[in-house]
Amino acid sequence: MNDEQARHDEQARSRARQPQGVAAEPLLRLAGVQKSFGAVHALRGVDLTVPSAAVTALVGDNGAGKSVTVKVVAGTHLPDEGQMFWEGRPVHPRTPREAAALGIEVVYQDLALCDNLDVVQNMFLGREAVKRGFLDEDAMECSAMRTLAELQVTTIQSVRLPVASLSGGQRQSVAVAKAVMWNSKLVILDEPTAALGVAQTRQVLELVRRLAERGLGVVIISHNLTDVFAVADRIAVMRLGRVVSEGPASGTDVQTVVELMTTGNARAA
Ligand SMILES: Nc1ncnc2c1ncn2[C@@H]1O[C@H](COP(=O)(O)OP(=O)(O)OP(=O)(O)O)[C@@H](O)[C@H]1O
Ligand SMILES: [Mg+2]
Repeated sequence: MNDEQARHDEQARSRARQPQGVAAEPLLRLAGVQKSFGAVHALRGVDLTVPSAAVTALVGDNGAGKSVTVKVVAGTHLPDEGQMFWEGRPVHPRTPREAAALGIEVVYQDLALCDNLDVVQNMFLGREAVKRGFLDEDAMECSAMRTLAELQVTTIQSVRLPVASLSGGQRQSVAVAKAVMWNSKLVILDEPTAALGVAQTRQVLELVRRLAERGLGVVIISHNLTDVFAVADRIAVMRLGRVVSEGPASGTDVQTVVELMTTGNARAA
């Protein structure tokens, strides 16, 4: 039996060990989520399921409501209506900090890394480790290095380099490592490869796969359907503030997804 098979078996056993009722609940479920900004009805009843140990791609045209959906999950926007269930429990995160306490981390398009700070300082920004009133630099450096090593991010020469000196792919890797360092269960990436070249995109997509293999739920937003089909287990298509289709990536293809994005319907195969 190879490693991959062993890991899958272990994941299946661990699911089987869960008490009845819990195992059936996905990590995250949105039901009928609505959000308006003045006259703009951005979300018109979003139903979305995000399981653990899988990559769910959220796709849709510009303005479909992908980023607003993510911001509701992350506690940045309060929904006007609808419900959010976390491991089966109703939750209402009102701030990113409350969402983080549940285990939800978001890596935004613009990354929110500070160029002038080094890798360690960025990964611990706002959550610095303190020992006897002083910053515990050694502990933070060790844990930053350990997280990067666990994620097999090997191209960063030193965690004491300012982030400004890193490549786009390396910066994205730091942002992802920062998101998974805090006992997160769900990592959401909004357009993580938009500004990256081919090799760097591959690096980031491999990293995304590793997160799911470690058991995390991952949501990736991308306009690049080649990337989506390369990395996703499931695909949810948004159009005009709703999820119009959601299911296994293996059950669909690029043409169908494009049709769903543009018309909301897919021709029967
Ligand atoms: N803070 C805001 N105030 C007002 N309107 C907003 C706000 N944020 C988003 N919107 C509107 O909500 C709608 C959905 O936007 P959203 O950012 O979720 O789209 P998206 O699917 O992420 O698109 P893109 O692919 O272009 O990033 C758009 O019409 C947008 O203009
Ligand atoms: Mg967006």
